[in-house]
Amino acid sequence: MQHRTINVCVSRSYDIHIGNGLLSRLGELVRPVLGDCRIAVLTDSNVDALYGSRMMEHLACSGYDACKYVIPAGEASKCSDNMLAFLNFLAAEQLTRSDAVIAFGGGVVGDLGGLSASLYLRGVKYVQVPTTLLAAVDSSVGGKTAIDIPAGKNLVGSFYQPSMVCCDTLLMDTLPENIYRDGCAEVIKYGMILDARLYSDLHNVPFDREDVVARCVAIKRDVVQQDEFDNGMRGLLNFGHTFGHAIEKLSDFAVSHGEAVAKGMVIAARMAPLCGLCDVSDSLSRLLISYGFDISCGYNANEIFEALLSDKKRRGGSISVVLPKAVGECILVTLELEELRGLLGKVID
Ligand SMILES: NC(=O)c1ccc[n+]([C@@H]2O[C@H](COP(=O)([O-])OP(=O)(O)OC[C@H]3O[C@@H](n4cnc5c(N)ncnc54)[C@H](O)[C@@H]3O)[C@@H](O)[C@H]2O)c1
Repeated sequence: MQHRTINVCVSRSYDIHIGNGLLSRLGELVRPVLGDCRIAVLTDSNVDALYGSRMMEHLACSGYDACKYVIPAGEASKCSDNMLAFLNFLAAEQLTRSDAVIAFGGGVVGDLGGLSASLYLRGVKYVQVPTTLLAAVDSSVGGKTAIDIPAGKNLVGSFYQPSMVCCDTLLMDTLPENIYRDGCAEVIKYGMILDARLYSDLHNVPFDREDVVARCVAIKRDVVQQDEFDNGMRGLLNFGHTFGHAIEKLSDFAVSHGEAVAKGMVIAARMAPLCGLCDVSDSLSRLLISYGFDISCGYNANEIFEALLSDKKRRGGSISVVLPKAVGECILVTLELEELRGLLGKVID
């Protein structure tokens, strides 16, 4: 069975394997990376019901002694209680420093599993097996791990690169439509920030998933290799996210991440010509609508501005936003808060 392999060369170099049906080859793929060891699989209740037994059978067939820990599906599970419970599970199972964690699920499982692996015994190996489109193209690439705390989302985390990523693109067949669409917002983002050809190809719906996942992973890989610890170019990946986070927060997370990013990208695209950059907003809006996104902001300019004041990217009296220069090319622009307030007033009706 053919598959694609993308090597990520950062503080720890590792391969991301992408292909249809790859779960059945997981044991064979992890063996050179993990060697002989015990494996703790972290997954969530939905993924477990669909694929949990297949995962455990494949590992057993490849000679691995594996145990499994299941958290309830959903963002609320990405919390310190679950992380501590999982760490206690690893200890109760007597996993040693030569053993490994496999995070099998979407971004919630990936983030919780990665952070736990970075902490247990000061770090054990971990492998990501993403099962959502978003996790495949975004959260399983780049080594960011995190949990949410009551003060905010992703406030506690670490940079901890996996030892390998194995992405079986067939597993995404069972994703609910809205969850799949969330991932499509990130895919469109990659086209807009760095790859005009990808952006153009995304007009052919449905896209070839294996091909598109591989292209997005390669784009994120290129960015992360230049800026592993998020001090510069990685900021480009926030296209649509600064405004998107404001919308998510205002909606009390009723608007999903992907929907919010879609709305945020449209706000940024409308702002670009007012900052002397080109206007790609009609093209982007049409593409997002063709994927089923509602691109209306849903909040007024003042509400968005107030929500932005607590953004992580704010530095004193200014804030950095990513704006398109052209399709396939975005730049980071620092705006004074009052300038931003004025611009929001012009682009949000
Ligand atoms: N670390 C990073 O760089 C990074 C980047 C982006 C997002 N994230 C994080 O990722 C999380 C969002 O990820 P997500 O959208 O994958 O959410 P998720 O993990 O909650 O998955 C979404 C839903 O899909 C279900 N699901 C997963 N795979 C399935 C499958 N194959 N078939 C059917 N259902 C399936 C899950 O059970 C869940 O209900 C957020 O917590 C976000 O902060 C992290």
